[in-house]
Amino acid sequence: MKSIIIYESTHHGNTKRLVEAIAVKDNVETVSIENAGSLELSGYDRIGLASGIAFGKFYKRMEKFAEKIPAGAQVFLLYTCGSPAGGYVKNITRTLEAKGAKVLGNYGCKGYDTYGPFKLVGGIAKGHPTKEDIAGAVAFYNKIQMNNPHKTEVGL
Ligand SMILES: Cc1cc2nc3c(=O)[nH]c(=O)nc-3n(C[C@H](O)[C@H](O)[C@H](O)COP(=O)(O)O)c2cc1C
Repeated sequence: MKSIIIYESTHHGNTKRLVEAIAVKDNVETVSIENAGSLELSGYDRIGLASGIAFGKFYKRMEKFAEKIPAGAQVFLLYTCGSPAGGYVKNITRTLEAKGAKVLGNYGCKGYDTYGPFKLVGGIAKGHPTKEDIAGAVAFYNKIQMNNPHKTEVGL
């Protein structure tokens, strides 16, 4: 089973911490979005897209990248966000499914957020992702590796 995770984690590296924990445990390839342009994605059994959330969606560049995922690809989604309002995977899931990709599931947790006015109060979701948040991401990954026919949604 060959897996890759493409990540965009520019705010505080919160999402990257989830990605690294998965990669260390399971020897998954990881590539930042900046270096993902020339990837040949058809060679992978599982493709992870991991991103912080901005304005209710995955980061813009990642939302755009999703348009390039080949039909038939098996995709999973990872994200961190300042406040767990939910619905953050909606747009990218729609894009992926319209392209004919299969979305296996998603994992989301809080991530330290100092955007805009939150900076004035020292940020929100301090200390996140926690050890437990990160362990949750690893558990999620293990679950989807078991070829679970049901969609896996964990976290927020
Ligand atoms: C420009 C910007 C917009 C954001 N918008 C949201 C948002 O709509 N909802 C939310 O919960 N968090 C929002 N956040 C917080 C980030 O999603 C959160 O801190 C995340 O963990 C950052 O991930 P990263 O460090 O991997 O980039 C925003 C952060 C930035 C910088």
